[in-house]
Amino acid sequence: MTAKEIRKSFLDFFASKQHHIVPSAPMVVKNDPTLMFTNAGMNQFKDIFLGNAPIKYPRIADSQKCLRVSGKHNDLEEVGHDTYHHTMFEMLGNWSFGDYFKEEAIAWAWEYLTEVLKLDKSRLYATIFEGDESEGLERDDEAATIWAKYLPVDRIINGNKKDNFWEMGDMGPCGPCSEIHIDLRSDEERAKKPGVELVNADHPQVVEIWNNVFMQFNRKADGSLEPLPAKCVDTGMGFERLCMAIQGKQSNYDTDVFQPLIKAIGKLANCQYGDDSKKDIAMRVITDHIRTIAFSITDGQLPSNAKAGYVIRRILRRAVRYGYTFLGQQKPFLCQLIPTLIDSMGEAYPELISQQSLVEKVIKEEEESFLRTLETGIRLLEKIINETKKEGKTELSGNNAFILYDTYGFPLDLTELILRENNMTVNAKEFDVEMQKQKERARNAAAIETGDWITIKEGESNFVGYDTTESEVEILRYRKVTQKKEDFFQLVLNPTPFYGEMGGQCGDAGTLSNDEETISIIDTKKENGLSIHLCKKLPKDVTTTFVAKVNEKRRIAIENNHTATHLLHESLREILGNHVEQKGSLVTENELRFDFSHFQKVSSE
Ligand code: SER
Repeated sequence: MTAKEIRKSFLDFFASKQHHIVPSAPMVVKNDPTLMFTNAGMNQFKDIFLGNAPIKYPRIADSQKCLRVSGKHNDLEEVGHDTYHHTMFEMLGNWSFGDYFKEEAIAWAWEYLTEVLKLDKSRLYATIFEGDESEGLERDDEAATIWAKYLPVDRIINGNKKDNFWEMGDMGPCGPCSEIHIDLRSDEERAKKPGVELVNADHPQVVEIWNNVFMQFNRKADGSLEPLPAKCVDTGMGFERLCMAIQGKQSNYDTDVFQPLIKAIGKLANCQYGDDSKKDIAMRVITDHIRTIAFSITDGQLPSNAKAGYVIRRILRRAVRYGYTFLGQQKPFLCQLIPTLIDSMGEAYPELISQQSLVEKVIKEEEESFLRTLETGIRLLEKIINETKKEGKTELSGNNAFILYDTYGFPLDLTELILRENNMTVNAKEFDVEMQKQKERARNAAAIETGDWITIKEGESNFVGYDTTESEVEILRYRKVTQKKEDFFQLVLNPTPFYGEMGGQCGDAGTLSNDEETISIIDTKKENGLSIHLCKKLPKDVTTTFVAKVNEKRRIAIENNHTATHLLHESLREILGNHVEQKGSLVTENELRFDFSHFQKVSSE
């Protein structure tokens, strides 16, 4: 089966089990402060798990673009060096929201793998959660008993919390899980060493292909677990690994998902995959990263200097560096791979086709500017080398290597390579110390401590701000957040006339008052569908009724700028063309900003 046929057969199978098929959510996450990128198929359903959104379809299946390059799930450093981790990958998933549970989930996983795909049963293993005393959780005997219907008991393996208790992040939905692993080694090798010893042991041919999570809990900020409103199933199968298993390959990169790209790189760099292990790593890195970069751009995240955009820029630069160092690519080359990517993935993800020229243009510009930085860095490095030689030394200080890394994007291996050509070395220990210090700085700058919600009153928060800017309200819940050593409080009100920051329009400000006092609401944000009001202090009595009043003059100024943004967008489409799409926008009381991509500089006129 080709990759395309495999993707389709999964969706067809679950459609035949009454699942509703939905499209992949964007890979870039805009409305959840705990995530920058979609890191699992279940992200788009988080609100349903938590009970904050209604269940429209109790059974769903899809193929989701995921990216694991930041936060709790981060595989970046492995990518390219091994043959089965990726930054971006596709996750095939089926979900039950309060509908079926372990019995059906396991039965259907088994049916799909062994009857539809006809994978060799003797190569499959299942892991189940062994329990964890510190969390007060028992072994998942239920899953073990169900698995025993399909597998001999010696191929059902206990796993610990790290491997068999799945969590989206530090907070959020979680639960015990049961993974399916496959042993793809040759019969000879299998006879020498039983596969059971290699499950979860980082063996490239004994890999996890499918994770069945039995979502039962919500992890709170204080680390405790509370039961979810309904028991749910969340499964995720690594599409690229499944293709490897079905197509009888030893590496994800040998499947038809990646081969066209590998070949295109070989053509550009005049080399053959498999001839030189260093070049192979570089080819895998580039093959993997070009997908991530292209899909991020089509999902609206361009490389930039901050947050999610910076993550994408770093991935792009990692690809350029590998090409530069190991494949001799000193001119933009990543942008030339887009037609090949479109050939193999454009049908399943048409956004690649409609945005092809934008993607190519953005990547080319990024490559050009980074290659210039690299050149500048190389000149600086040559100067330092000469000075160091004059001092009669052959070792470059770690501090200098770190400046090259931090300012010019030189990874240590590139610096080392150039030094080796000059019979010199670098003090790697000093470099590590500097690196550690920088990580510490980044952590401190980004840290936000979020407390648990304290509930005053149960209920939903109704937005009344389209009709009124003032209303009588109650506080439903509140929590404390601390950032850069400053304390704030977040309140959920019902009802609320305050508009939460959304689609670039900044949130309302105003006051909350009763007979005793008046509190300033400095901002309103939207989080998982909830309006959250920010203030510097809590009212003395949080249980009374208040009058919530939006600063009306400010709101009207914001509304005017919002309208003007739409007018500007329409004008740009008329004048520059229909490709002008909103990539980002900011609408405040004083100004508006509208981000879009165009192939050339826009004239002032
Ligand atoms: N959420 C689980 C995972 O990402 C299963 O989909 O592995």
